[in-house]
Amino acid sequence: MEVIHFNLNGEDRELKIEKGQRLLDILRDVYHMTGTKCGCSTGDCGACMVVMNGEAVRSCLINAGKLEGSRVLTIEGMSDGEHLHPIQQAFIDAGAIQCGFCTPGMIMSAKALLDKNPNPTEAEVRKAISPNLCRCTGYEKIVEAILLAADRLGR
Ligand code: FES
Ligand code: FES
Repeated sequence: MEVIHFNLNGEDRELKIEKGQRLLDILRDVYHMTGTKCGCSTGDCGACMVVMNGEAVRSCLINAGKLEGSRVLTIEGMSDGEHLHPIQQAFIDAGAIQCGFCTPGMIMSAKALLDKNPNPTEAEVRKAISPNLCRCTGYEKIVEAILLAADRLGR
């Protein structure tokens, strides 16, 4: 058993972790933040994507021990009370909310991208969401939404 300290969606947390626990388990099972999905548990689908220290990471691959001193943002931390984040609003407006499994992860990848690169090209957007798999609907609306969000955030 080890005690770790980290910041989750703006709040400082202290947590006893167990060997083998992953960030994904902590989010879903300890904090009941179920917006972060478990699609594969093997790093292949991106459904568990969160932003950790400014980078989009697959939470199923992050050992809890790596959390000490980190900043983690999940989909639950994106809105400001009742106000959706502009990226979330752009997903709605562009018709890019597809299913609940891929959408949170796509939004977190978009957030990490736009924080680092506020004016991405379409190719850069496609590269940023390349770890996020959708097996059904496709990526056109999602790319459109991220470019729309970049445009709105840049104004
Ligand atoms: S659940 Fe983490 S990449 Fe699929
Ligand atoms: S996996 Fe979510 S719409 Fe395809």
